[in-house]
Amino acid sequence: MAALLLLPLASLLLGAGASTVQPVTISDIAAAKRAPSPGAFSFFSNHTIYSPKGNETVGYPRVTELSDGSLLATCTLSLRFPQFFPIFKSTDGGASWEWISSDPDDGSPLGLGAQPALLQTSKKFGDYPSGTVLAAGNRMSFDSTNIDLYASTDKGKTWSFVTTIAQGGPPTTKNGGSSIWEPFLMEYNSEVIAYYSDSRDQKHGQKLSHQTSTNLEEWNDAVDDAAYSIYADRPGMTVISYIPPLGQYMLVYEYGRGNRTKGGNRFPDVYKLAADPRAFASAPPLDIEAADSRSNASKILEPGSAPYVVWSPAGGANGTIIMTDANHKKLFINTRGGDAGAWETRDVPQKAGYARALHVMTKYPDHLMIFGAGPYRAKRGEPFSLSVVNVTELVGQGLGKR
Ligand SMILES: *[C@@H]1O[C@H](CO)[C@@H](O)[C@H](O)[C@H]1NC(C)=O
Ligand SMILES: *[C@@H]1O[C@H](CO)[C@@H](O)[C@H](O)[C@H]1NC(C)=O
Ligand SMILES: *[C@@H]1O[C@H](CO)[C@@H](O)[C@H](O)[C@H]1NC(C)=O
Ligand SMILES: *[C@@H]1O[C@H](CO)[C@@H](O)[C@H](O)[C@H]1NC(C)=O
Ligand SMILES: *[C@@H]1O[C@H](CO)[C@@H](O)[C@H](O)[C@H]1NC(C)=O
Ligand SMILES: *[C@@H]1O[C@H](CO)[C@@H](O)[C@H](O)[C@H]1NC(C)=O
Repeated sequence: MAALLLLPLASLLLGAGASTVQPVTISDIAAAKRAPSPGAFSFFSNHTIYSPKGNETVGYPRVTELSDGSLLATCTLSLRFPQFFPIFKSTDGGASWEWISSDPDDGSPLGLGAQPALLQTSKKFGDYPSGTVLAAGNRMSFDSTNIDLYASTDKGKTWSFVTTIAQGGPPTTKNGGSSIWEPFLMEYNSEVIAYYSDSRDQKHGQKLSHQTSTNLEEWNDAVDDAAYSIYADRPGMTVISYIPPLGQYMLVYEYGRGNRTKGGNRFPDVYKLAADPRAFASAPPLDIEAADSRSNASKILEPGSAPYVVWSPAGGANGTIIMTDANHKKLFINTRGGDAGAWETRDVPQKAGYARALHVMTKYPDHLMIFGAGPYRAKRGEPFSLSVVNVTELVGQGLGKR
């Protein structure tokens, strides 16, 4: 939900001239390494990846798994100028993490301040070999918002600027602005797709768009993924997962409803399904209304804001679609292939947080990782942390226990 995005900008602009400018130091890296480790590839709760120091805050976690099974995770980090995303690596299923690099690492004057996205490619795109790690984020100034793309050809150790995929106007979350926000990267056949929230079309307060590229340097024109006829509606925060038993992609997003609400929620999370992830525009948005209690079917929970979705083959014949929102600690699950009437909730140990990220490990498909950091208005002291839960047990919780 984009109002927050002004906070990093405010701190960037306030901080740019301040004496608190701090480069990454050896002690940062040592602190990141010092965290006590659970067993490799085990299940655990509330394990710290990075503890912010002093007045720093962390938020908006994101993760990608590399082809060798290691994980790269990142988040926003306030009070460092120029801004960057800290890149943490784990080779043991999230049990231990090392801060391996910062993106950008080239002294770009504004760096990357908000809304990271990570992806490792499985093919060659232009001059970038298979296995290149991509990182996108929002570079904001007083005058513009920019979806910048960086690449690493050494698995996240060093980064180089590729291009600005899209540029919008000054950061504002008010209708009438022309900002862009919140990239999400995905590989699809011979293309990389960059999805983002887009306020540049003056027919819509905000809509969801994507652009495609075959060489990472040139990007085709923006295409709509969700745009509503009511101007004040502001769909935002695209995340997509492939759902194998359906043969379809699921797009989750917050459906900002202008000055209206749905059950008191101004940003209910909804989803669309499409076989071609470049063709969500014509798919109908579906509500997520989860039975929260087996004993009282009319007790309904709706997710809201900053969603994320993944699929695990564990949990039943259809596997399990698992989504998180920003308003609940619980997760929302669907074991019936995305059937709109079949959402349920499950308890997890990871605390609630803004823009939590989920990941299912390729070699351990019943391991669900839940990455969290601060709330919407990030708080000092709230760490970047991780819980790993057993999907079979998560789904089974519903049987009798609730
Ligand atoms: C999670 O871990 C942090 C840091 O160790 C700690 O301060 C906090 O109390 C823990 N929260 C829960 C719910 O265990
Ligand atoms: C945190 O911010 C407050 C208020 O600006 C300041 O007084 C304090 O020195 C800062 N603390 C640290 C550890 O930077
Ligand atoms: C709510 O939004 C509608 C449609 O944009 C607009 O016509 C109306 O004036 C708004 N109402 C308030 C109270 O802001
Ligand atoms: C069931 O839940 C609904 C919605 O929370 C509530 O209004 C109703 O009173 C509950 N019924 C019972 C029998 O608890
Ligand atoms: C799988 O999904 C289908 C379609 O919604 C449903 O009919 C079926 O019951 C599901 N299977 C299981 C084991 O839940
Ligand atoms: C996950 O939970 C299920 C059900 O309790 C259990 O059979 C399975 O062994 C667990 N997975 C792991 C890796 O421990």
